[in-house]
Amino acid sequence: MTSPTHPSVLTVCVTGAAGQISYSLLPILANGHVFGINQPIALRLLEITPALPALSGVSMELIDGSYPLLRSVVETDDPAHAFKGADVAVLVGAFPRKHGMERKDLLAKNVPIFQKQAYALNQFASPDVKVLVVGNPANTNALILSKFAPNIPPTNVSALTRLDHNRALAQVATRLDVPIHSVDGVCIWGNHSSTQYPDVVRASVHGHPVLDKLGGLERVAEDFIPTIQKRGAAIIKARGLSSAMSAANAIADHLRSWICGDDRIVSMAVHADGSYGIKEGVFFSYPVRCLGDGDYEIVRGIDLDHFSRKYIDATAEELYAERDEALSLLI
Ligand code: NAI
Repeated sequence: MTSPTHPSVLTVCVTGAAGQISYSLLPILANGHVFGINQPIALRLLEITPALPALSGVSMELIDGSYPLLRSVVETDDPAHAFKGADVAVLVGAFPRKHGMERKDLLAKNVPIFQKQAYALNQFASPDVKVLVVGNPANTNALILSKFAPNIPPTNVSALTRLDHNRALAQVATRLDVPIHSVDGVCIWGNHSSTQYPDVVRASVHGHPVLDKLGGLERVAEDFIPTIQKRGAAIIKARGLSSAMSAANAIADHLRSWICGDDRIVSMAVHADGSYGIKEGVFFSYPVRCLGDGDYEIVRGIDLDHFSRKYIDATAEELYAERDEALSLLI
């Protein structure tokens, strides 16, 4: 299914393409729901060598999907080949957390993966490539990637916290029995981990504040925040596998907002520039406004209350420790 790439074709690279998130993600990318129904795409799929047979099955299914916008599919285990000319790179592939693994062990496996992919992206991707890191620990993998890809502006790299954002929106909507689209003012701060801070202090429905209806700060601390922080673990417990369908949907939402723009404030882990006292350089989830064409700005001027500050400081501390551990692993 290879055809010469027309200049207007968007080249999208997905790593971990034979994995479970990608199995839900690739059809969404191919059917025009992310980049628009007039935007043809070329998919470049990266996997580790042992997963290439499975990847060829995924590729066959993409062909059988007869997606009118899908111009070509490349399957490879070579990052240099995968990232060639990439306009968008979605880094889903990562070494999975296995039973008994500490955070340091997970970092030790993933730092070299993201370092190697950074070199290849830096050399072979389009100069304006937008890189979304999904594989965990996503925020710190994004930091490593950005550090070793100096040709790519740090603002062109982000990590996924949109799944947490969507979970928070859905929990507010469910608790108040209102449609999701009526909920606003929700955001995720910090690390994509159990220390993340799902902030509903300014949540509103049709413009009306709803913190009181959610039971006030005490109830939010007891119930709402832990529900979001532990949602991933609850899904693993129930399904025996980590979230994939909702993760793929969140990746699609993240890319659409980032590349095409969005009227709503959304959550993205982005290169910290010192905003809200977060140390520069870590990839920290903030409320952001996506302006279109891949531009975004961190929402400024939020007057953080003591309650929020405590959570934000805790997740920032975890992220600094993760950064230090990751950097100590570099040779
Ligand atoms: P999976 O295990 O089903 O798939 C991962 C795929 O990545 C596998 O096919 C594996 O062969 C591949 N892979 C591993 N190392 C690679 C490398 N160096 N280059 C290319 N491919 C490589 O896992 P799943 O469920 O698809 O999740 C993928 C990642 O996304 C995990 O790290 C998971 O923790 C993370 N995740 C992140 C979320 C977020 O919100 N940031 C939400 C859900 C999952």
